[in-house]
Amino acid sequence: MSHLHPIRLGVNIDHVATIRQARRGVEPDPLAAALLAILGGADGITIHLREDRRHIQERDLRLLRQTVSHRLNLELAAVAEVVALACEVKPDEATLVPERREELTTEGGLDVIANERTVAGAVDQLKAAGIEVSLFVDPDPRQIEAAKTLGVKAVEIQTARYSEARSSAHRAKELAALKDAAAYSVERGLAVHMGHGLDYVNVVHVARIPGVEELNIGHSIVSRAVLVGMERAVRDMKVAIAHGRI
Ligand code: PXP
Repeated sequence: MSHLHPIRLGVNIDHVATIRQARRGVEPDPLAAALLAILGGADGITIHLREDRRHIQERDLRLLRQTVSHRLNLELAAVAEVVALACEVKPDEATLVPERREELTTEGGLDVIANERTVAGAVDQLKAAGIEVSLFVDPDPRQIEAAKTLGVKAVEIQTARYSEARSSAHRAKELAALKDAAAYSVERGLAVHMGHGLDYVNVVHVARIPGVEELNIGHSIVSRAVLVGMERAVRDMKVAIAHGRI
């Protein structure tokens, strides 16, 4: 596979903050998770600062910016308050995503065409702050074309439909759409990122798509971290309890 160019892995640590917010406490700290992810080989850290502050907090963004020397990718909606914060804190990369309060996670790509003025305003502000801008879009040539018109560096092509496909025929169709969208973006000089719903099995085919430079993966990595860490965490608690019995 040496003929293939390397792909950056951005580890999305939002779920670590979700666990912390379950108690509104201090653990687990996404900052610690970010540093461990980097020890594990992550090429960057991705966080989504939502308007509703459901998981990642402003404090996390600021501390991560000061601590993580690897690429910091901030996902955000094109709303004034968060865009202004991004321009102040200056992550390496800003990925504009759609946001609806009732959603469980980001659902579908940004409609760049329908929201052109809002998105263009956010893109201009972020670019002026020296931040690389990426737009999270469906594998749809019209959206990619619209992204190109706004002068962004990259598109993050959303892989949810591929990840959620249940039959092999459907999966093959969605994979083909991803390949076409990647080729279309590369032809237009856009860097190609992908993400959403990627796991340890379905990532293999996506990693083979020519032109993909960056994958952003969260749920499957944090899910595995919880499981591979469980045995050790229980052992440590047994030791702590045993200390109390001496
Ligand atoms: N990329 C974008 C733009 C996202 O919004 C998300 C989820 O926050 C991801 C990638 C990561 O998706 P997942 O958690 O399903 O790996």
